[in-house]
This record gives sequence, C-alpha cells and structure tokens, in this order.
Amino acid sequence: MADVTFTSPKMAKDLTVYATAGDCHTLLSVAKAHKVPIEFECENGECGSCSIQVVVMADIPMAIHLTEKEKTVLRLSGKISKEQIEDAEVRDMPPPWRLACQYIVRDEDILVRL
Ligand code: FES
Repeated sequence: MADVTFTSPKMAKDLTVYATAGDCHTLLSVAKAHKVPIEFECENGECGSCSIQVVVMADIPMAIHLTEKEKTVLRLSGKISKEQIEDAEVRDMPPPWRLACQYIVRDEDILVRL
C-alpha cells in the first residue's frame, strides 16, 4: 500500500488516499476516483493539462520511468530539462514534474502538488 497525498490551493485540505500495490493505476485515475480537482483533457499524454509536481517520500524512488509522450510534452512546456530526463534515466532521480495520465502509481508514498 502506498500513501498518495494530494495538495492544492483548490482543495480545502490535503487528501491522502491509499493505492494498492500492483493495481497499475495512473495517478490521474486515482485522483479522479477520489474526486481530486485535477485538470485533464486528452488522458493520453498529449495535451499536458494534467501536469503535476510529484515529491517521492521513499528513500529509493520507484516510479521514475517517463513515457516518450511525457518526456516530449514536459520538455516542450519547459517543465523539465534534458538534464532532468537524463538524471531520471541514468541516475534514477525522479523528475519534479510528471503527467498524471502517464504516471503509474507504485508501492511508494508520494506527495502530489496540483
Ligand atoms: Fe493530456 Fe494528461 S490529460 S497529457
């Protein structure tokens, strides 16, 4: 089980939900299931409207892998740099921005800023 805490000025208070390991849900689907006011349009990694900041609370981050769509959209919007993509791929350092529709929730605690 992983704690996924959502925080946003749009929410009256932070919300922590529990994601079951092995479910392979996207962060967007977890947010929608718990009525978190997350923005989204395409749900396919193309529009960038679901960009969120993710802080990994675990010592060893797990959900580091970025999809090709995620890399392209986040790079073009200026949210992550080429170096941050390389850090993720080579040094297992999680990038600060992700696309909620592409991020698969793993068995690790995370803080999500909308
Ligand atoms: Fe369009 Fe996620 S909803 S990129």
